[in-house]
Amino acid sequence: MAGEEAIKLAARIIAKAKRIIAFTGAGISVESGIAPFRGKGGLWEKYNPEEYAHINTFRENPEKSWIMLTEMLELIKKAKPNPAHLALAKLEKIGKLRCIITQNIDNLHQKAGNTSVIDFHGNTSSLVCLECSRKYKLDDFSLEKIPPRCECMGLLKPDVVFFGEPIPVEALYRSQEEASKCDLMLVIGTSAVVQPAASLLGIAKRAGATVIEINPEPTPITGIVSDFIIEGKAGEVLPRIVEEVEKIRIR
Ligand code: OAD
Repeated sequence: MAGEEAIKLAARIIAKAKRIIAFTGAGISVESGIAPFRGKGGLWEKYNPEEYAHINTFRENPEKSWIMLTEMLELIKKAKPNPAHLALAKLEKIGKLRCIITQNIDNLHQKAGNTSVIDFHGNTSSLVCLECSRKYKLDDFSLEKIPPRCECMGLLKPDVVFFGEPIPVEALYRSQEEASKCDLMLVIGTSAVVQPAASLLGIAKRAGATVIEINPEPTPITGIVSDFIIEGKAGEVLPRIVEEVEKIRIR
């Protein structure tokens, strides 16, 4: 469907829906200067995830993983919410967005003002000790010495899900519950290939929800799990959708 037509259709569906959730991925933060994981220029092109982001290799050679992590944390620290994040914050404010389930670890939805965010893969705003599970706020911690260590001398890692680690139980259960109860899921900036995150889309679909994708290119779920895709950048498409929703609301 062509851009403007699809945007207006999405706005009408949002205006009618009663229980809307958003499912976001790295693409929503691209316009904030954070590279996605897959594709040209993606993080996994530069760093093999099995070598740098697997929990076993992290334990064996934390210095190596921390090279990638330091680069990533620097980028995230500098990044600001872009118009896509702000549009989702507005959607929550006007009572049209129940929650965001994000695969992102950059805290940008929270910075944009969303109050109901499920960090499916954790969040880089804190560090966790692999020995005693003590958590530290990243901002209160010096990263001069790599790898950083806990007071108990245990290894610290960002409180995010590495390959080989389970999804935090509360995030998993809350997400599954929200996906099974929503009547509209907005799927934004994700390649929808990583499990179990991508299974949430099927849960929503099977429960009867409409699934709309916003992405510059089709994904493996386009037209199969999703009802339709709005092809474009999240930072351009989402503000237009919210603008249209507001027009319908004041009519
Ligand atoms: P990917 O890098 O796999 O996919 C990013 C998607 O965003 C692609 O489909 C792009 O086409 C799209 N995209 C690019 N620019 C965009 C823009 N301006 N607006 C909207 N979309 C845009 O990232 P994820 O799907 O988030 O997990 O990856 C899922 C998980 O894989 C991550 O959470 C991470 C990774 O391994 C862990 O590290 C556990």
